[in-house]
Amino acid sequence: MNTSQLSRSDVVEVRNLVVRYGMATALDNVSLRVAPGEMVALVGPNGAGKSTLVNTLTGILTPASGSVEVRARIAQVPEGRQMFGDLSVDDNLRLGAWQLPGRGKSRRKQRDTSWVYELLPDLVRVRDRRAGGLSGGQQQMVAVGRALMSRPEVLVIDELSLGLAPLIVTDLAKHLAALNRERGTAVVLIEQNARLALDLCSRAYVLEAGRIAAEGSSADLATSPDIARAYLGEAQGLTSPPEAQDCPGPNDRATPGTGETAPGHQDTAVQAAQAATREAK
Ligand SMILES: Nc1ncnc2c1ncn2[C@@H]1O[C@H](COP(=O)(O)OP(=O)(O)OP(=O)(O)O)[C@@H](O)[C@H]1O
Ligand SMILES: [Mg+2]
Repeated sequence: MNTSQLSRSDVVEVRNLVVRYGMATALDNVSLRVAPGEMVALVGPNGAGKSTLVNTLTGILTPASGSVEVRARIAQVPEGRQMFGDLSVDDNLRLGAWQLPGRGKSRRKQRDTSWVYELLPDLVRVRDRRAGGLSGGQQQMVAVGRALMSRPEVLVIDELSLGLAPLIVTDLAKHLAALNRERGTAVVLIEQNARLALDLCSRAYVLEAGRIAAEGSSADLATSPDIARAYLGEAQGLTSPPEAQDCPGPNDRATPGTGETAPGHQDTAVQAAQAATREAK
């Protein structure tokens, strides 16, 4: 990347990052930045290194070389949600605040979940239920809510739509756009559905085999024929051919136990993301 574009005001700044698992290099010379309040997408094929990158941002992994500076509170919605299945939704949310400092009254305030229920009202009626018994979409909402409990200025989401039906993804996309609009929370979104990611986020990085293959404004990337062919499942632009809509994409996966699958072209979700983005502008 052109490092002259990096700015001290960025909330996340990654330079020339190399991450290895033993002898295997998962990230090779990756640079990335996130400005305050920005929504940034990270797309790429399976095994490209997306989770490795965000796990390095949040300190789960240690770089072999390069630098990672995170200048704001960051929270991650992990790939696969990782609920505490035997705990209630409410307890799962409260656990999200465990890292915040404070005692007594301020501690109670930090553990107050009411604002998360306001933001994600579908969770209200399941607040006392075991998280492990919820649908995939509900669990993803709990995972987002739990991450929000740490009051992040940067929210990292590893696979928003994984295993979820389009309508659920639509709803989640709307919530993310509202969070960004109303609270100014920056979002780093890893998403298999590249069209959804490009519609929701203003800027994007394409990661391939551990390297940044492309970066730029989502609008520019969406009209690039290479990106459209590789990630949008079409010859050009954002309009998918009708016959493709019922075909599962190559990256589709089902989440065990959720009973929900992700179709390859989540047009409802994409349309909602477009609407949410329009609203935000
Ligand atoms: N714990 C690990 N030990 C060894 N290799 C790993 C480990 N985790 C990931 N890898 C390897 O690192 C590379 C990047 O994996 P990563 O999970 O970051 O990809 P990804 O882009 O998130 O893929 P996906 O879209 O499937 O989630 C892959 O080759 C993967 O096999
Ligand atoms: Mg991953």
